[in-house]
Amino acid sequence: MGTYALTGAASGIGASLAALLREQGHEVINVDLRDADINADLASAAGRQAAIAGVRERAPGGLDGLIPLAGVGGGGPPGTLITAVNYFGTVEVVAGLRELVSRKQGAIVLLCSNSAPMSSPEDPLITSLLEGDEVAALKIAAEHDNGMHYMAGKRALAYWMRRNTMAYARDGIRMNAVAPGPVDTPMTRPLYDNPEMAEVMRHLIDNTPLGRAGQPREIARAINFLLGPESSYVCGSVLYVDGGYDAHVRSDHI
Ligand SMILES: NC(=O)c1ccc[n+]([C@@H]2O[C@H](COP(=O)([O-])OP(=O)(O)OC[C@H]3O[C@@H](n4cnc5c(N)ncnc54)[C@H](O)[C@@H]3O)[C@@H](O)[C@H]2O)c1
Repeated sequence: MGTYALTGAASGIGASLAALLREQGHEVINVDLRDADINADLASAAGRQAAIAGVRERAPGGLDGLIPLAGVGGGGPPGTLITAVNYFGTVEVVAGLRELVSRKQGAIVLLCSNSAPMSSPEDPLITSLLEGDEVAALKIAAEHDNGMHYMAGKRALAYWMRRNTMAYARDGIRMNAVAPGPVDTPMTRPLYDNPEMAEVMRHLIDNTPLGRAGQPREIARAINFLLGPESSYVCGSVLYVDGGYDAHVRSDHI
């Protein structure tokens, strides 16, 4: 059975994926702020290095899969925190564990979002994220906290994944992403208590062909597909798992 490293699996989609992988007999190593195999704060460079070192220690033979799910939602937390955790807390951990995944010719699945296309491709934050300069990116995030940092970070993550697909594949790693729509987790539940955000959520659901939010297990199953042999020729894809929202709202964008 395989060994899988997850970040952010103390809650929500990650917890559901960890349970699914364990049901399949796999070993799961979880990195999270607390109650994890490795407690680390992925908002900081030191926390990311601790996470990488902890996973290396626990999986010296390599990883069959790496799924960095740790994230904070939009609609509340400061843009700088969103940027530090969701973008740098993902790409630095992926880069730091790349060799371990390569050793077992494993798979990586990133967590994007179907909200990413709502950000402007011209957003200067995206450019700075892709340049990999965290100090500069956090400066921009602080100066222009326009409420779009969650979406912009997820757009940048999708770009980063696609730009790195070739290099990772040549290391034997299939890298893909899922782009969920609203999923019923502790990240989204508080949004319904905020009248402005509740309105946004209602609008999203009303425009979702399946007419409801997703359940964590529904996203976990899609990730599981991208990790496993049944997706052996899927590489560099962003799989929308959003009840059809993207198809409905952006029908001609492929
Ligand atoms: N829920 C949704 O509607 C939705 C939609 C699209 C994408 N996503 C993405 O899916 C992923 C999981 O989201 P979720 O809904 O399960 O959220 P969640 O809040 O239930 O879980 C997120 C986890 O990340 C951890 N985390 C947060 N900050 C951290 C930090 N600094 N260091 C280490 N761990 C940290 C939390 O402790 C938590 O366990 C996120 O990347 C999110 O952006 C979620």
